[in-house]
Amino acid sequence: MKEIAQLTELEAAAELAYLAAEIARADNAYYQNDEPYLTDADYDRLKHRNTAIEARFPHLVRPDSPSKRVGAHVQSQFNKIEHRFPMLSLGDVFSIEEVADFVQSVKRFLNTAENIVFMAEPKIDGLSFAARYEKGRFVSGATRGDGVIGEDITENLKTIRQLPLQLPEGVPEVLEVRGEVYMAKADFMALNEKNATEKKKLFANPRNAAAGSLRQLNPQITAARRLSLWAYTWGEVSERKWQTQAEFFDKLAEWGFPVNPLNKLCNSLEEIEANFAHMMEIRAGLEYDIDGIVYKVNDIALQERLGFLTRTPRWAIAHKFPAEQALTRIKNIRIQVGRTGALTPVADLEPVNVGGVIVSHATLHNEDEIKRKDFRIGDMVVVQRAGDVIPQVVEVKTDKRPTDSLPFEFPNRCPECGAHAVREENEAIRRCTGGLSCPAQIKERLKHFVSKDAFDIVGLGDKVIEEFCADGILHSPADIFTLEERNGVDKPLDLFAMDKDEELHLERRDGWGKLSTQKLFAAIKARRKISLPRFIYALGIPQVGSATALLLAKNYGSFDMLQKDMCAKETAKLVAIDGIGGNMAQDIVEFFGEEHNLRVIEQLRRYVEVENYVTEEITDSPLSGKTVVFTGTLEKLTRAEAKALAQKMGAHVAGSVSAHTDFVVVGEDAGSKAKKAAELGVKTLSEAEFAQMCGK
Ligand code: IVH
Repeated sequence: MKEIAQLTELEAAAELAYLAAEIARADNAYYQNDEPYLTDADYDRLKHRNTAIEARFPHLVRPDSPSKRVGAHVQSQFNKIEHRFPMLSLGDVFSIEEVADFVQSVKRFLNTAENIVFMAEPKIDGLSFAARYEKGRFVSGATRGDGVIGEDITENLKTIRQLPLQLPEGVPEVLEVRGEVYMAKADFMALNEKNATEKKKLFANPRNAAAGSLRQLNPQITAARRLSLWAYTWGEVSERKWQTQAEFFDKLAEWGFPVNPLNKLCNSLEEIEANFAHMMEIRAGLEYDIDGIVYKVNDIALQERLGFLTRTPRWAIAHKFPAEQALTRIKNIRIQVGRTGALTPVADLEPVNVGGVIVSHATLHNEDEIKRKDFRIGDMVVVQRAGDVIPQVVEVKTDKRPTDSLPFEFPNRCPECGAHAVREENEAIRRCTGGLSCPAQIKERLKHFVSKDAFDIVGLGDKVIEEFCADGILHSPADIFTLEERNGVDKPLDLFAMDKDEELHLERRDGWGKLSTQKLFAAIKARRKISLPRFIYALGIPQVGSATALLLAKNYGSFDMLQKDMCAKETAKLVAIDGIGGNMAQDIVEFFGEEHNLRVIEQLRRYVEVENYVTEEITDSPLSGKTVVFTGTLEKLTRAEAKALAQKMGAHVAGSVSAHTDFVVVGEDAGSKAKKAAELGVKTLSEAEFAQMCGK
């Protein structure tokens, strides 16, 4: 990568565009899907580079720059709650030197030589929440969402026992308490164990489990999970009766909120450093995950003078822990074949404790990574586990390499079916070309098909799918729906006919009985009618997760419409959808271009009715049913607010201008989209006109 000092203006602009897109994608995976794919360190590296380039080229800062956003957009199914005060994020630093710089910058800003006292708080690795109390009664709760608009999780929060629903006399009339919901490590392990026996989805870590549990449309599920919380800050308050963060904690405790006993006042940089070292030491033994220490100026009058940068306070910062690492040996390198045929190298490791978690497998990413780092079987390696992601092998200790070791040769045939495994130009991934004749791909596709966000068929867990595939009972998704008619359960046992019996007898299989078989059939029958987003997601189109499936459902309304456009390779509407890029569009079109995929769809639709997607349209709004594109910086609204508002008025929000666009809302410094609108003769609106149409 080029030094920032060496970048030309053109290169800088291009890289900022790339970084904005990459970070948005990662945010989406992290916040929306609870399925991060970048390590915190890699993510932070992208953010840092973005900030550094922006510092050198301030005039190139994009309206959609990640430095201007707090989190991700809100999900559509939850009601939205607008935060009276935005829920902000914190700047990150990674060394004590940077903390010292932060302390200096605080002093410089305040123009004081006096000592500043900081509150040092464990940074809880969970999900932030805001709980609103009026006259002492809990009235509503929200997630952070994008910082401006969150999701209404009132009912879900109520299920957390630690949250007081009624506060004692004397609390401010309006009081919004904010903090972090988390799942204790032990509760996380118990939940995963339970899910494993019930063949349900396993969570990668406590944070994801907490997120998945809190953001449940059905609060009963939240109630069944053990969630905990710590309170640490406030939003709107009618009367602030505390002068310092320490006093606020005392009040919180008085009012019945859980306050972390490890919060500690620090009077000097030395104390800050000692506290950090101590926390690193005890971290693994804590009952919950923390990923750093937050420092806040203790004196609130000073906090108020310091104020905010765009999205982060000047009076607080997060000092992040380095990723946890450990040394172990690669016992074997295995190649896994995924649902789209991707070959992924996985290292089987001698089990090792990495920051309190036993790690015995780690990803080696891809062929190039193995080559670049020269990972070999038998090598001693450094493994790393950073909060959220699958453990990774980061480095080889070549001095400890066995003398007889050989470089790893990446196979060019699929280890599961023997078909050629090829790498397309510019692709990092080698793929098996066996398609649906590859048993591994069939198996993985089926697992995906029945998974929780897809057809959600209880009773068909991963292990059952593997067994049924191995025994030739299932080959393709449609086979699931013929299981019952193929099963000879009610017929008398005819011993003579058994040998040449073509019929299934699931109830005679190990671990099955009449009851479980009937239950399975009932579960399958219940899915003969399926919502459009689930159906699209279940198909396993590369890159199409449940959020994208929902977008497609919303924009096409019916499966027939989608299929018709895709088969005609008609992509104008597709690429205009905000959130669907060119690369993804290509994957979608290619998926529908494959004969065997169309066959699977056709077979499925003999058994399954796919419901059309009906949006509750606001029909009396001038925006209802219209397609709107935003460009440039709006003055009164953030992009997320504007988008949410347009959607509330019944509009579709698209990411690019096309002939399908009805309105382009043009903010300041609008670029090519405004030009395109003019070219195509699409009507443009000013921010004020847009606000007026929304009745504001
Ligand atoms: S204070 C303006 N205190 O870290 C300050 N945040 O990167 C707002 N977090 O969104 C946050 N522990 O989810 C604060 N003791 C703590 C925290 C904490 C965890 C999370 C929180 C926030 C994120 C900021």
